Amino acid sequence: MNIATLSLLVFISIAGAKRLEQLGNKCLPGNNHKLSPSPEKSLLGCEVYKEKSCCTSEFTEELANSPIHKIGNFSWTQCNNTLSPRCEAFMVHIECFYRCSHNAIFWRNPNYPSAIKHAPVCASFCDGWFDACKNDLTCAKSWISDFKMSAYGANTCKNPCKTFSQYFRGGKDLCENMWGMSFVYNGTDCLQLNFTLPNPNDDLVKKLFGGSNGKPKSRSLACISSFKITALVINFVAFLSLK
Ligand SMILES: *[C@@H]1O[C@H](CO)[C@@H](O)[C@H](O)[C@H]1NC(C)=O
Ligand SMILES: *[C@@H]1O[C@H](CO)[C@@H](O)[C@H](O)[C@H]1NC(C)=O
Ligand SMILES: *[C@@H]1O[C@H](CO)[C@@H](O)[C@H](O)[C@H]1NC(C)=O
Ligand SMILES: *[C@@H]1O[C@H](CO)[C@@H](O)[C@H](O)[C@H]1NC(C)=O
Repeated sequence: MNIATLSLLVFISIAGAKRLEQLGNKCLPGNNHKLSPSPEKSLLGCEVYKEKSCCTSEFTEELANSPIHKIGNFSWTQCNNTLSPRCEAFMVHIECFYRCSHNAIFWRNPNYPSAIKHAPVCASFCDGWFDACKNDLTCAKSWISDFKMSAYGANTCKNPCKTFSQYFRGGKDLCENMWGMSFVYNGTDCLQLNFTLPNPNDDLVKKLFGGSNGKPKSRSLACISSFKITALVINFVAFLSLK
């Protein structure tokens, strides 16, 4: 094996670990996210995220007061009906993930850095969400692009009020359209948005981003920073070319 192949292999095997290392301690930018995740004393509406949270407890207060009318100036009840409790609970789980989870950044949207793109939500969650909301009212299929928006972030209807089941064909359609491109429906390697601790999505992130062969990175590799490995490879190549 020549040195080029060897360095390539080393680079490939650390690429995943490097991604985990770079993003593992950051939050999405903007939208009230903290710079990096840290513990919160209590997180009211998003309790499962309190050990390592990208949102403040103050932010989650709005999510804890059912029925929820607005988050900031953004209305969840544009048709002047409150959401049914079960539908609202699903919406809160989604909001908590986006606002508070330190894992959300692994799916950050390259074009809109404070947003996420194609995060794989478990099919069972999407189907449950559709079932819970199917008789609730909304006036937009995409809650990102189908409202009339004020300069202050207040949304009002431009389309008619209809039930979710009239706007969406099912759980897949709902997950993949209501929050724009944020989510995809996936039955295999997927994010659980309603869970009890330990956070199952930490293992998913390790599996998808943490190293080669889909296995969590080894402890020893975790201890060597990828910067050091890069330096090591460069030194080794330099050493060989001097010989
Ligand atoms: C909801 O109520 C507000 C204030 O009364 C009104 O301006 C708005 O048009 C109503 N929306 C719908 C969809 O009926
Ligand atoms: C979340 O999970 C719990 C426990 O499995 C369940 O009782 C509850 O109905 C679920 N809530 C939603 C909104 O899915
Ligand atoms: C909400 O709207 C009001 C004006 O109606 C504005 O003063 C306030 O700054 C807005 N809040 C946010 C978070 O944009
Ligand atoms: C689900 O996720 C897996 C792994 O990330 C991917 O290979 C697969 O194509 C996805 N399936 C769908 C239906 O998106």
